Amino acid sequence: MRSYAKLNLFLKVLRLRADGYHELDTLFERISLFDTVRLIPRRDTAILLECDSSELPRDPSLNLAYLAARLLQDTFKVKAGVRIEISKRIPVGAGLAGGSSNAASVLVGLNRLWRLGLSRDALSRLGARLGSDVPFFIHDTSFACGRGRGERIRRLNSLSGRRLWHVLVVPKIRVLTPDIYKGWDKLVKKDARYRIAALTRPHCDVKILLLALRKNDPGLLQQALFNSLQEVSGSFYPQVLKAQQALTRLGIGPVLMSGSGPAVFGIVPTRKEAAAFYAKLKDQKNNWRVYIVHTR
Ligand code: C5P
Repeated sequence: MRSYAKLNLFLKVLRLRADGYHELDTLFERISLFDTVRLIPRRDTAILLECDSSELPRDPSLNLAYLAARLLQDTFKVKAGVRIEISKRIPVGAGLAGGSSNAASVLVGLNRLWRLGLSRDALSRLGARLGSDVPFFIHDTSFACGRGRGERIRRLNSLSGRRLWHVLVVPKIRVLTPDIYKGWDKLVKKDARYRIAALTRPHCDVKILLLALRKNDPGLLQQALFNSLQEVSGSFYPQVLKAQQALTRLGIGPVLMSGSGPAVFGIVPTRKEAAAFYAKLKDQKNNWRVYIVHTR
């Protein structure tokens, strides 16, 4: 089955919580870039993982797809095993939630294969134990708002059928998400003005973004896209800023970083324009991965 990637069109960090996570207000978009996950049943109880990418850690217990199968097997005392085959196309550690998406595919697929009869909400709760982005993929929707750590999902059915085109650029670096959140903590501690600005900037509201998407208003969209972590990732990893500047310089309007980066993307009106920008970016030979993707 296909295991899609996501972008965050909006990601506002509200505060550090007592459990070390951060309270978020985010808007997820599922995009057409995907990995393929195959689940092959086994009679014994072994869980095996095979992946065609050298980017992933060798140790399967560090892989979210493997951990998802283990979690179901342990929780429901399943007396069967599975071989998980992942064909990887989504860049790893890029802010596109490829690992979380693979874990969601395994939960949904094994729920069927092992006839567990779990509801979407039950799968979502299990998914949240693996990672904050997992529940979004379990909800099987193109757009959703995420609250809490990002795991409390509200589907945005009013946007169903809406298709955005993107040029997506992924610098070949891997970002460590916890470091970026810690960087945000430091920034906020150091500069109270930053915190106040982040919390009160009038245009910085997911509702305005929703309005812009519903009305298909590019000007409003430009103002409403937001990511609290962009400044931190940009200062830790200059490649993020470079990629963003490259998109902006080509005249691609609204440009934003996804998650904790380094993936950055622009919203473009049509596939044709996306293809033209893609060709120009490829010409620049920046050693970046460049994709044309759309809402899925
Ligand atoms: O939930 P997930 O395992 O994907 O999160 C990875 C790391 O990102 C966490 O360990 C935490 O450091 C940070 N994080 C956070 N607040 C969130 C989501 C992630 O601080 N809402």
